[in-house]
Amino acid sequence: MAETMKKAFVVGHPIAHSRSPKIHGHWLARYGIAGSYEAIDVAPSDFAAFLEGLAENGYRGGNVTIPHKEAAFALAARRDRAAEEIGAVNTLWFEDGTLWGGNTDGHGFAANLDDQVPGWAANGPAVVLGAGGASRAVIQALKQRGVRDIRIVNRTLARARELADRFGAGVTAHAVEATGELLADAGLLINTTALGMHGNEGLPADPAGLPDHAIVTDIVYVPLETPLLAAARARGLKAADGLGMLLHQAVPGFERWFGARPEVSPELRRMIVADIKAPGVQSDAQRTL
Ligand code: ATR
Repeated sequence: MAETMKKAFVVGHPIAHSRSPKIHGHWLARYGIAGSYEAIDVAPSDFAAFLEGLAENGYRGGNVTIPHKEAAFALAARRDRAAEEIGAVNTLWFEDGTLWGGNTDGHGFAANLDDQVPGWAANGPAVVLGAGGASRAVIQALKQRGVRDIRIVNRTLARARELADRFGAGVTAHAVEATGELLADAGLLINTTALGMHGNEGLPADPAGLPDHAIVTDIVYVPLETPLLAAARARGLKAADGLGMLLHQAVPGFERWFGARPEVSPELRRMIVADIKAPGVQSDAQRTL
């Protein structure tokens, strides 16, 4: 019955390539919940009106993706701590009639590493390549998990400095030329730049300069194995792909809208991997943000 149907969405522009409907659709079926999760394309000029109509249209909430994350941050009536720290909102829900905005990207990043490389947060200094929106979510997660020495490297140094100022103690900004020196005693290397993505084949940093215990991760999930991860594995380092970040960032939203904490199971991962590799599927690089 329409009245009892729990409704959620992912809103973006464009939105056709989002895998979120597949993830939430899998969970709705898996847990036998009478709910729907639909992809909605909304142009930036219509986004505020879209949010105003949510309750009226029967939505319990939804996900927000490019280019609406900053607008959702500005328009949500209340925001959780992660959203405040990151400065963007990727998950919306109602509490007592009030529209809340949260950010689960940092949670997705950390939970993915918990799965693939347990103990990662104790591995020592982290080098974060890039200073965009993805970098913010990563730094929020690193700080939240107690990493005390976070080194941001970015082509445009001023953007790295902005983030270092934003996140404060323990977070420093560096020019690309310093990368070799910064990697020499690092335990974590995280790529959030567009380098290594489709049409951008260069390595964002050379894992050869890392210590033997280092862990390397890339937030990209198409392709699953980026040139950086391949180079890290060839060097004998532990490497974690970015697909789990996409899967895990979806968990808190599903729980809020549909009332069950869903599992990121091997079956779900296999399903999304098969979709990524399906013939005819867009092969351009993709990541959670
Ligand atoms: P997002 O919000 O998805 O993180 P973004 O804000 O566009 O995306 O940030 C992209 C990051 O990739 C930035 O750190 C960018 O560096 P600049 O701040 O100097 O632009 C980095 N990046 C993109 N293309 C790059 C390239 N060819 N070489 C090095 N860094 C690159």
